[in-house]
Amino acid sequence: RPIRLTDYRAPDFAIPETQLEFDLHPTQTRVRATYRIERRGVAEAPLVLLGERLTLKALRLEGVELTPDAYTLSPECLTVPGVPDRFTLEVEVEINPQENKTLEGLYMSSGRYFTQCEAEGFRKVVYFPDRPDVLSKYTVRLRAPKAGFPRLLSNGNLIDSGEEADAHFAVWEDPFPKPAYLFALVAGELDVLEDRFVTVSGRTVALKIFVDPGMSARAAYAMDALKRSMKWDEETYGREYDLDLFMIVAVRDFNFGAMENKGLNIFNASLLLADAQTATDLDYERIESVVAHEYFHNWSGNRVTCRDWFQLCLKEGLTVFRDQSFSGDQRGHAVQRIKDVKMLRARQFPEDAGPLAHPVRPAAYLKIDNFYTATIYEKGAEIVGMLKTVVGADTYRRALDHYFDTNDGTAATLEDFLRSFEAVTGKDFSPWLKWYTQAGTPTLSIEATYDATAQRLTLDVSQITPPTPSQAHKAPVPIPVRLGLLSEAGAPMRFLHAGESVTDALFLLSEVQAQWVLEAVTHTPVISALRGFSAPVKLRLAEPEAHRFARFRGDPDPFNRWEAAQSLAKALILDPQGEACAYAEALRATLSDPTLDSAFKALISGLPTEMDLAQSLTPVDPSFIHARRNAFKAELAAALKSDAEALYAALPAEPTFSPDAASAGCRALRNVLLDLIVAAGAPSATAIAENHFRNAGNMTDQMAGLSALSQIHGAAYQDALDDFYARFKSEPLVLDKWFAVQASCAHPETLTRVRYLVTHSDFDRKVPNRWRSVVQAFAVNNPAIFHDISGEGYAFIADEVLRVDRFNPMTAARLIEAFGGFKRYAEPHRSLMKAALERIVGTEGLSKNVGELAGKALAG
Ligand code: ARG
Ligand code: ZN
Repeated sequence: RPIRLTDYRAPDFAIPETQLEFDLHPTQTRVRATYRIERRGVAEAPLVLLGERLTLKALRLEGVELTPDAYTLSPECLTVPGVPDRFTLEVEVEINPQENKTLEGLYMSSGRYFTQCEAEGFRKVVYFPDRPDVLSKYTVRLRAPKAGFPRLLSNGNLIDSGEEADAHFAVWEDPFPKPAYLFALVAGELDVLEDRFVTVSGRTVALKIFVDPGMSARAAYAMDALKRSMKWDEETYGREYDLDLFMIVAVRDFNFGAMENKGLNIFNASLLLADAQTATDLDYERIESVVAHEYFHNWSGNRVTCRDWFQLCLKEGLTVFRDQSFSGDQRGHAVQRIKDVKMLRARQFPEDAGPLAHPVRPAAYLKIDNFYTATIYEKGAEIVGMLKTVVGADTYRRALDHYFDTNDGTAATLEDFLRSFEAVTGKDFSPWLKWYTQAGTPTLSIEATYDATAQRLTLDVSQITPPTPSQAHKAPVPIPVRLGLLSEAGAPMRFLHAGESVTDALFLLSEVQAQWVLEAVTHTPVISALRGFSAPVKLRLAEPEAHRFARFRGDPDPFNRWEAAQSLAKALILDPQGEACAYAEALRATLSDPTLDSAFKALISGLPTEMDLAQSLTPVDPSFIHARRNAFKAELAAALKSDAEALYAALPAEPTFSPDAASAGCRALRNVLLDLIVAAGAPSATAIAENHFRNAGNMTDQMAGLSALSQIHGAAYQDALDDFYARFKSEPLVLDKWFAVQASCAHPETLTRVRYLVTHSDFDRKVPNRWRSVVQAFAVNNPAIFHDISGEGYAFIADEVLRVDRFNPMTAARLIEAFGGFKRYAEPHRSLMKAALERIVGTEGLSKNVGELAGKALAG
């Protein structure tokens, strides 16, 4: 039975205080909880506590032991009828962290204890009303043998610690009431990197990052990112940190990226540890953004939390928007925007167009874990960005201040968020709710008519959102459109807007259609619409190819310049007769433009991915896409060969590594050039790639060399793989890359290779990072082989989903996405993908997680 938003009821009981005591033991951990409980709702309502995989050991009400006839126990809850209006309840349970391979609740990783409670993991720790609108003040006592568990960590401040006969203990108190999903504990042997941050009001906060023994130097970049994030949130949002201590812990075994537990963030080690020899620039970039993301949650998520899980986007969309803004400030907004939109289009657009489409605020779910999606995170962030665009930066800041001030300490809703925009502007923001409640990507169409005599440009604009599962009819949504004009020669062109002469203006389409009239347009204009990707829509604008080339060569809006190149490349690749000649010319001009930075040049030199192309073709024919893209790339590379070689040679690898954005941009450009040189197919390419790999002074260049060699796929590739393995076999995070590069290689041999990789002695399905390094790399980054006509790629992924579902449903379910769009594929892909899904759905003992997604994917 699905959980529905419309069924929401406020909780019957409040639990203002929670005391927890843990006697940590690998197989028999004792948890003793003492709750102060107050009735808030219906008189007579029984107390219902949720719990899973718990062994109840004792239950006392006001100190009196309850006999089994005084309560009822089911696999999912503990119900106590006839309770008074105010009382204390003690619950004692036993759990087995060692056996817990779901990595949710309390579990062990490399002999240490960790928790993951969001969304519904606390119920695997102890009985509790595990829902985000029950906020409680926690005091936590941890006890474990000192040998093996020198660190005992939980949320808040350490208020007591000491030794007992055969153990030691620590008592933590978190003064801020919080929902159970923000509870955390960590125990074990860990090294620490320490620093401090002085807040704007002059308080000193101790910063501690805990990592595997010997790894603390690799936390330096995360620490630096943390301090920059703390400063940024003070300056940009007026948000100051509120405890005297902020801790982050890295863990190898983790189901996703990271978790914002109050004062004790827990991170997948892959998003925390970095140095030049083991991490790529992309790793650094992601570490910076995730450290910021989790830190920003302290206000957008923790101080103001969510009323229920349907409001997940209230904290996630807002926090993603905040981390994207931070990254833009740190690394450059143009490049950041392009990367964010690439990601949105690669993951969210397909989701929104397929059977798993759901609104940013879903109406129903079986497992909330299945809704930590690109739609809720990335589309959610886009909505916040649009709101900022329409109200302007200053008003946005006032709205957010109002939001944080009026909702602090509460569990809020998306309506509360929009209400803050209404409060500071006096305007009605209810039309924006449609963006939250309606699934599907709107298409924005613009038809332009230019009247040379009247010097008038008339734009007939309209929007349509296609039907999505269980939402046949769509209402219009507010679409902000930033639009500018260029001359056909590519120079910015003026027009009259609201009585002013401008080259760029913001329009808002609020209805199904509208007409926008631009006056004083002196020449035939090139229209640069949706600048900065001002709304997450698909744009349809009929125009001559020459107009796209004009924007490619000189749109002052860098996003649209990149966009023009991408859309040209898309059209040329999908056209069997498409030629690369003019495109190469425009790219050559861009590469030699001294006003553009290297990171931008690297982005604009990258062709649309096969996934991007698949979205523009019906039915999808993966081998046509693969062949056409390769052919176009080879043609482009041949045309640019001497430029690429000269530029490559002129950009020597720097002797010392710095992870800053400018240096990373240079490396990105040099590595894109290497890719072009390889694509040109000259015999010298192998030697260049091998040199690149062997002389690399950092992991970014080394991986670029290895991936170039994988494309050539000769003897040099296997040698490089062997050397890489020998050098890094004791570095799990680097070995993940070694697995991933092989699984991503678009060579037919990869089908056999992945079957071999999962039998490799270093392969371990119980470690999500390692499992994903093969299966996700294969299913997501290797469309050519995943979609092999034999259907073997589908069968391999279905087998893997089923194997991992037996012990880690949350992680297994994420892979169903790869089959999501099967109805859009040409035969035989369509039938083969369907058969794989049917096999999954027909399997006995399937988890709710996989069952929900695979079922929806099939039903579509
Ligand atoms: N709140 C975490 C973050 O975005 C992610 C938690 C994911 N939880 C899950 N069950 N998938 O930072
Ligand atoms: Zn988050």
